[in-house]
Amino acid sequence: MESAPAKLILGGEHAVVYGQPAIAMPFAALRATVHATSAERGAGLTVIAPDLGTTWRLRAAQPLSDLAERTLHLLEIPEPDIQLTITSSIPIASGMGSGAAVGVALVRALAHIAQRELDPSVVSQLVYESEQAFHGTPSGIDNTVIAYEQPIVFQRQPFGMPTITPLPVHGSWMFVVADTGVASETKAVVGDLRQRWNADQATYDQHFHAIGACVWQMEAALQQHDQTKLGELLNQNHGLLQTIGVSSPELDRLVNAAQDAGALGAKMSGAGWGGIMLALVTPETSATVQNALNAASAVRTWQTELSA
Ligand code: PMV
Repeated sequence: MESAPAKLILGGEHAVVYGQPAIAMPFAALRATVHATSAERGAGLTVIAPDLGTTWRLRAAQPLSDLAERTLHLLEIPEPDIQLTITSSIPIASGMGSGAAVGVALVRALAHIAQRELDPSVVSQLVYESEQAFHGTPSGIDNTVIAYEQPIVFQRQPFGMPTITPLPVHGSWMFVVADTGVASETKAVVGDLRQRWNADQATYDQHFHAIGACVWQMEAALQQHDQTKLGELLNQNHGLLQTIGVSSPELDRLVNAAQDAGALGAKMSGAGWGGIMLALVTPETSATVQNALNAASAVRTWQTELSA
C-alpha cells in the first residue's frame, strides 16, 4: 500500500503561477491511498477508483492512465498484471491537492511494484505533467509539496526548474482548517484570473507582487516563531486574494468567523471560489475557533499542527 498526503497553501496561491513565491505544507491526516493486488497472468494493469465509480485499463484516454504509462516507461518495466485500487480521504476540488495526491500515490505504488525508490523530484515531475492536463497552467506547487512531503517555499523561475526550498519549522504551529463544501475547479479560477490579468496586467502584477512580499514576511515569521506576525500576514494575504477576485462569500464568512472567534489570522487556501480556508490558532483558542467555524456552516473542520 502506498499513499500521499493532502496539502495546504499557507500563502502565495495564484501569485505563484506568475512567478511569486508561495509556502505550502503537507496535510498528513488526509491521504490518497493506492492498494495493489496481483491479477491473473496476462490481465495487465487495471485501476479501480470505487469512490469515483470508475475503472480503467492502461492506455485509456485519461490523465491518470497516461501517468501510469509514463511511470512504467521511466521504470523500464513491462505492464504488470496487477489491480490498483485508489481511495482517498481528501475532498475533491477543495484546494487540498487531491488530484496531485492520487497521482503521487499511483507513481509510488508502481515504483514499489518495480522495487524501486524514486527521488521526490522525479515523482513530482511525472505528476506535474498530468497536472497540466487537469489544470492548464499549474505552477507545480501541489505536486512538489506532496511528492516531497515537507513544508516548502516554492517559486517558479522564468526559465528552467522552479526553486524548492525546504522550510525549517521552529516550534509548533496549530491550524484549524474548514471546508466550505463548495466544490471549485482550479482550472476555472486560474483561467478566469488569467483573463482579468490579460486585460490589466499592470494592476494585477502589483497585487501579485504584494502577495509575494507578504509570503517572504511569512517565511521570516515562521523562522522567528512570531505567531502574531504570521496571523497578521494571513489576514493580509486573504485581503489580497479578495482583491484579485478569487475568494467567495462562503470563504469570507468562514474567515471572518475564525477571526472573530480569536484566531491569530485566517485566509482562504488553494484556488478559491470555494474549497477550504485555514486559521492560525493556539491551544487556548483552537476549540473556540473550530466551534465558530462549524456554527458558520463549515461542512467539515480539522485541526492540524506544523512542527519540526
Ligand atoms: O489546486 P488547488 O486548488 O490546491 O490550488 C493550486 C494553487 C494555485 O496557485 C491556485 C494554482 C497553481 O497551479 O499554483
